[in-house]
Amino acid sequence: MALLNENYLKLPGSYLFAEIARRVAKFKSENPTADIIRLGIGDVTLPLPAASLEAMHKAVDEMGAPETFRGYGPEQGYDFLLKAIIENDYAPRGVKIEMDEVFVSDGSKSDVGNIQEVFGVDNVVAITDPVYPVYLDTNVMAGRTGEYNNGIFEKVVYLPCNAENNFIPALPTQKVDIIYLCVPNNPTGTTLSRSELKKWVDYAKTNGAVILFDSAYESYIQENDVPHSIYEIEGANEVAIEFRSFSKTAGFTGTRCAYTVVPKSVTAKTASGETHSLNKLWNRRHTTKFNGVPYIIQRGAEAIYSPAGKAQVKEMVAYYMANAKIIREGLAGLGLQVFGGVNAPYIWLKTPGGLDSWSFFDKLLIEANIVGTPGTGFGPAGEGYFRLTAFGNRENTLAAVERIKTRLKL
Ligand code: MLT
Repeated sequence: MALLNENYLKLPGSYLFAEIARRVAKFKSENPTADIIRLGIGDVTLPLPAASLEAMHKAVDEMGAPETFRGYGPEQGYDFLLKAIIENDYAPRGVKIEMDEVFVSDGSKSDVGNIQEVFGVDNVVAITDPVYPVYLDTNVMAGRTGEYNNGIFEKVVYLPCNAENNFIPALPTQKVDIIYLCVPNNPTGTTLSRSELKKWVDYAKTNGAVILFDSAYESYIQENDVPHSIYEIEGANEVAIEFRSFSKTAGFTGTRCAYTVVPKSVTAKTASGETHSLNKLWNRRHTTKFNGVPYIIQRGAEAIYSPAGKAQVKEMVAYYMANAKIIREGLAGLGLQVFGGVNAPYIWLKTPGGLDSWSFFDKLLIEANIVGTPGTGFGPAGEGYFRLTAFGNRENTLAAVERIKTRLKL
């Protein structure tokens, strides 16, 4: 009899967004005429930038001609994309990254989920709470989290982020080995300043920890004091791995392209104390388990760094950030407590009337036919909060705010 990985049995329920989809499908089947506005999962609605489309069409034609056809590409990504990433995302910020420190992939969800494979099972993991569920769930699957009791995994260090601490996680009081940070943050839409981030880099250096820095929402940063890359902080290239994605930056959620930076100077130790570069291990994993992002898609990603592509991406980000402002100001005008939405496409609100997150989810769905994401789905400290995304189209965003004003019995 085959034995299963019992760690999977410790995972509570289903993946958050799958559970939401299940509940919405049930509501829709019971209320077939309801005109549902979906501001739940952070999925983009604008089409791909024209520059990407043009590049992809050209790449399709190349794939159709024997002289330009390509089979397997380099697992780490084609040089043209690696070069564009380094020259545009890092060099202008004074960050030096080598070509063999960048790994192109099919998404940050995969990368933040898979990265834990290069770490030993006995590491102590710290996550902010609330948190993007993939960080926690993949560590549960790997057997790093211990038992689940009352909504908490016993071996995980939770760092609560709430209105009381301004959504700034405090440094752990116990020693941790792996720290997940998401800046700008999903789900709270808040950020960390340069000086806050420096505290984490210093902590990691002092304690031999590694920071897994999810920067998927970097292009939404509007304020000057928010670093775009953790490598802007001195010493971070010794302790941090950074994840970036084309999903939210350029509408690639369905197209799939992202990258992870693993500087060669980031190391971890064996039980006997030998130091090894994580770059080598990640390269080994990536080349063994992944066969590269399609050539056509990588050409589409490269095109966002052209002058036209940059302008189109800027316009796209501005569109979603205008949605964020509409939601933020609309809800604040109703007296709701709202956070985020300034440097990120998420608005995090305190549920009105002391409702728990899932009760507010039901209320919003039933009374206003709007889907959002219950804060508790992101962790225990998310209880009493709720997330709305700014990735809807303008018409739906305006309609959603109007419905909340007129239909929701607050
Ligand atoms: C979210 O809604 O949190 C994101 O869309 C999830 C993701 O990027 O995988």
